[in-house]
Amino acid sequence: MKKQTYIWLVSLIPLLSSCSSETERERKPINNIQLEHSILSLTKEATKLHVPWDLQYDRVNNAILFSEIGGSIRRLDTKTKVVTLVDSLTDVYHQRTLGLLGMALYQPEQQQAYLYLSYTSKKDSLIFSNLYRYDYNKAGKLSNPKLLLQIPGNTGHNGSRVIVSTDKKVYWATGDAASDTFAQDSTSLNGKILRLNLDGSIPKDNPIKNSYVYAWGFRNMQGLTHDAKGLIYTSEHGDAIEDEINLIQPLKNYGWPQIEGMIDTEKEKAIAKKSPRQEPIKSWTPVVAPSGMAYYGSNVIPEWQHSLLLATLKNQSLRILKLSADGQQIVDEKILFKDQLGRLRSVLTLPNGDIYFCSSNRDWNPQKGFPKPDDDVIYRLRITDKAVAPRIKPVAANAVSSPTKSGQALYEAYCASCHKADGKGLTNTFPPLANSSLVKGDPAPLLRVILHGLKDKTIAKVKYESAMPSFSFLKNEEVIEITNYIRTHFGNSAPKINQQHLTSLR
Ligand code: HEC
Repeated sequence: MKKQTYIWLVSLIPLLSSCSSETERERKPINNIQLEHSILSLTKEATKLHVPWDLQYDRVNNAILFSEIGGSIRRLDTKTKVVTLVDSLTDVYHQRTLGLLGMALYQPEQQQAYLYLSYTSKKDSLIFSNLYRYDYNKAGKLSNPKLLLQIPGNTGHNGSRVIVSTDKKVYWATGDAASDTFAQDSTSLNGKILRLNLDGSIPKDNPIKNSYVYAWGFRNMQGLTHDAKGLIYTSEHGDAIEDEINLIQPLKNYGWPQIEGMIDTEKEKAIAKKSPRQEPIKSWTPVVAPSGMAYYGSNVIPEWQHSLLLATLKNQSLRILKLSADGQQIVDEKILFKDQLGRLRSVLTLPNGDIYFCSSNRDWNPQKGFPKPDDDVIYRLRITDKAVAPRIKPVAANAVSSPTKSGQALYEAYCASCHKADGKGLTNTFPPLANSSLVKGDPAPLLRVILHGLKDKTIAKVKYESAMPSFSFLKNEEVIEITNYIRTHFGNSAPKINQQHLTSLR
């Protein structure tokens, strides 16, 4: 009898703590968003997370399932906001951008539900990207792991998202593993969209017989989604320029590494003339670092119906990319939350029209002013009829001016995401430009680095794993402005350079 009372009391506690007053108080919107007609409220649903990477909707338990980069899978109850641990994977190799990444929950009405997971592992000195399938039971427990595919990984460029599209096939967006050749090699599984049956076998109707390869020529895709008809879209990181949104079609070659973004330079046009290359439906220079993407098909927020919602990291915003009726083009772009919530990693749309998205402020490359004590956060956007202030409005992307010619604005647009606004870099990842002998020294070697990039260099006894991209696409005036800015800021005081220093180096 005593024991029974105890159990009863314990089970009452979560009920009490999640009762409506508490939950509603916490759900007080931190912002309201005014669209043309609709008003949305923004609330925090879960806080103090560690780099949530992917969000999936578990409709049976009415919960948000999320991965965290270190290897845990957790579930957020959408009603009570209680977060519970589903599983911790012990063989995840987490470092910088590597770890537990994409997930896809496949939850049909009758048959077995599956959770597909994409994560990096390490054996001896070798890094791999893995695609696993777990059984997912009605209570949301994982069992019966099955390794579907294992491909080469690297210290960067590992992709990767996974979806199950309307054709009940698994699509896996793989990174080029920082290789110069994988993306254009149709026999390599890196830098590809791969297509698999639910059990991991190769579909009979794949475009190349007995091959997982569905489309190729990709660098490092970070977003993958499909619309109601099964059109597949990806978001992808460019190098120093040309981030992309692609509409994926079988057997098409999307051009990396010979072609960046649109086919618009003479060199790119010549390559595309020889063998056809597919252009993105959208590209960004300066880069925004696009990440997770979700298709919004609901009419609950009419202004956003038939749009791609895109989380961005470097640009620290949520973008609403309106699609044309046939889904072949992006016809409008709006920007929300610019610099308010920090880096955004992933976004999810629910059948009831709610939108969930998450920050990534505790990842390897935190931006100025972040992380905040509550980071990382899962946010919810929901339509509301309560017209409360303060209200913010999405900004039309074409209303945001391109970087002006001032050295500081150019530095912030092109260099600060890595070398930081104060020029101090990021320990062991991006070298400081403050007090760098190269920056303060002769103009020629410095300009060579800015124009042509740098790889595998040891600077002041530190070996940097990532590479410095080439900035040869910048105009001469822009290179001069940036160079003079870094030579005269962050405590540096070197003589300014001029046009003459540049001419012989192009
Ligand atoms: C994507 C990240 C990234 C961006 C953006 C970037 N850099 Fe770098 N940069 C690096 C890395 C990584 C290195 C070190 C490469 C190595 O050691 O091989 C580096 C090295 C350098 C160096 C050499 C420093 C030294 O002390 O030897 C200079 C100078 C430099 N970058 C300037 C710039 C400028 C100017 C811009 C903007 C136009 C810029 N970088 C943009 C990542 C970046």
